Amino acid sequence: MTSSVRLSVSRVRLQGIAGMLLGLGAFVSVSPAHAQDSRNTRAQDSLAVRAAAAPTNVVWLDTLDLSTWQQRRQRPRARLSLRGKPITMHGVVYPRGVGTLTINEFLIDVKGAADRFVAMVGIDDEMRTGRGSVNFEVWADDRLIASSGIIRAGDAPKLLVADLSGARIVQLITDDGQDTSNDDNADWGGAMFVMKPGSTERPTPYTLPPDGPADISRETNAKPSINGPRITGATRGRPFLFRIPATGEGPLTYAAKNLPDGVTLDTNTGIIAGSLTRAATTDVELTVRGAQGVASRRLTIVGGTDKLALTPPMGWNSWNAWGTDVDADKVRRSADAMEQSGLVAHGFQYVNIDDGWEGTRTPDGELPADATKFPDMKALGDYLHAKGLKFGIYSSPGPRTCGGKTGSYEHELQDARTWARWGVDLLKHDYCSYERIKPGFALETLQAPYRVMRAALDSVDRDMVYSIGNYGYGEAWKWAAEVGGELWRTTGDLTDSWSNLESVGFRQAGREQYAGPGRWNDTDMLVVGNVGIGPALHPTKLTQNEQVLHITLWAMQAAPLLLGADMSQLDAFTIALLTNDEVLDVDQDMLGTAGGRVWKVQKLEVWSRPLWDGTTAVALFNRGMKPYEVTARWSDIGVRGRQPVRDLWRRRDLGSFTDAFTTIVPRHGAAMLKVGTPRATP
Ligand code: GLA
Repeated sequence: MTSSVRLSVSRVRLQGIAGMLLGLGAFVSVSPAHAQDSRNTRAQDSLAVRAAAAPTNVVWLDTLDLSTWQQRRQRPRARLSLRGKPITMHGVVYPRGVGTLTINEFLIDVKGAADRFVAMVGIDDEMRTGRGSVNFEVWADDRLIASSGIIRAGDAPKLLVADLSGARIVQLITDDGQDTSNDDNADWGGAMFVMKPGSTERPTPYTLPPDGPADISRETNAKPSINGPRITGATRGRPFLFRIPATGEGPLTYAAKNLPDGVTLDTNTGIIAGSLTRAATTDVELTVRGAQGVASRRLTIVGGTDKLALTPPMGWNSWNAWGTDVDADKVRRSADAMEQSGLVAHGFQYVNIDDGWEGTRTPDGELPADATKFPDMKALGDYLHAKGLKFGIYSSPGPRTCGGKTGSYEHELQDARTWARWGVDLLKHDYCSYERIKPGFALETLQAPYRVMRAALDSVDRDMVYSIGNYGYGEAWKWAAEVGGELWRTTGDLTDSWSNLESVGFRQAGREQYAGPGRWNDTDMLVVGNVGIGPALHPTKLTQNEQVLHITLWAMQAAPLLLGADMSQLDAFTIALLTNDEVLDVDQDMLGTAGGRVWKVQKLEVWSRPLWDGTTAVALFNRGMKPYEVTARWSDIGVRGRQPVRDLWRRRDLGSFTDAFTTIVPRHGAAMLKVGTPRATP
């Protein structure tokens, strides 16, 4: 049955000074303040003009079943704002439309029967004084056909008109204006499909058909191999710890030539520990012997100030699995599972407790752990260190954390000392609630609390990697290194949906210039495996190809690789995804030059990243809804002539190619290549 709505003047209620809007579903209740707003009047005028040619065959977006609308948090609402009020933008009420929260995406099959899509888009007046910023896009069959540009809270809404002639699958994207979803109550006001005259077709929500398995190598090698970072650093005189990640049929035994003074190697576990006596760089030759042979590799150990996180941290963080239900047993079990699943042998090293460990501050200002969950933090730290793993913790510069626990405000030094006693190696410092202390987004306000904590960390006698978590406010990537961060979040929280991954992942293009050894853009924890912020976890909603794209994009950007999954439930695919040393080597490349985008057309992109051995990592991305051919041109990635190409996910040499390499990339997928001949490496 077609439920196209035929507009007629009788449906339109005229009220106030600017009653109208045949085209966008009737409305209007204009407050005097809005009536004086010239931008508003202009927008309404332009609508009125279009309304003169009122369409006759319309299907309102809000009449479709919205259950497949993919939205980061909460649900889109038909004919209501996100908060359940009438959709209102700049004083104008839209009886029709959909209220959403960014980041979200809706696919609709218009069956080639639509002429155009029309909507007034903007931030709902319920967030008029907020700090939302949104961007509306309409795509048809993987081509961008209309875009609003960034609209901020208080801006007039914009009219989007998208030509749908010939279009089949329409994609509505509401993106977060490159900050976070906070205050992004985004309306598709009066949104409608104008169908071809006489058409009886009706648009229907569309879901992509199931995707097959990703074609990645699942081989394991019985021959010994040394994996993980080729460089590590620590401050002279402070505890040093590095476990040599190595695989191969065991038992494995380890040897090292030219270890710097102050550190020793346990030849059975491969753990190098001690304390560097000199601020110097030493090339150490590591050897691992196993049942199937011997492997050697150079490890550069750097002693000095500010020499932490010379490659992006790899490991696990409790948040995406356990939320504030985290406890010591879960952390221990996760560390055990990280080891038993083989991830430690591929370089995963950090075990980070996120929010939820905190107890109540004592009268003398100490912040102990919640003893019911973490009876002995020092013992937990010792447990991790005995495995050669690093111990991370979490706090906030405000009085409260994001999870409502006690933050470090005005107790920074005391807390840093406590953490040093426990043996903490990394602090994630999350902005939550600092806004209550000092509202606003002035750069100095955003930076001040991090300077305070940095000074506190510097004054204790233990190295702690400093992970700044302000979701990218104030373009944190431009200044977070200067206030002392080794890594910094560039986005709001990543969730396991395609729309979120696509938006957050690809907006990083251009930020690579701010990354380097000891200074990394943190695009948030990985959303692979079983995730969900406990206790009810679910397998990631990303398809296997989307997960391949996820890891490829993070590795190309030199992002930290911090798992957020329940480590005891990793399936064979997830393990294969996370233990491909050729892919991990790109993330951990010791040159530390992050990759970036070198080519883009519509939903296809090519990224490249120079590697320390003289080769170039190249990623071919397909963000589209079906497989596409993608070409990496040598001129775009800075190489010439005939070049050998290796497929890193399949661990296969593909031959030599002149000027370019072309391959078919699956939908929402990636191919990852190494181009060039490696220089002889030790
Ligand atoms: C914020 C961060 C998350 C997590 C939670 C903890 O939302 O972005 O990664 O640390 O706080 O409350």
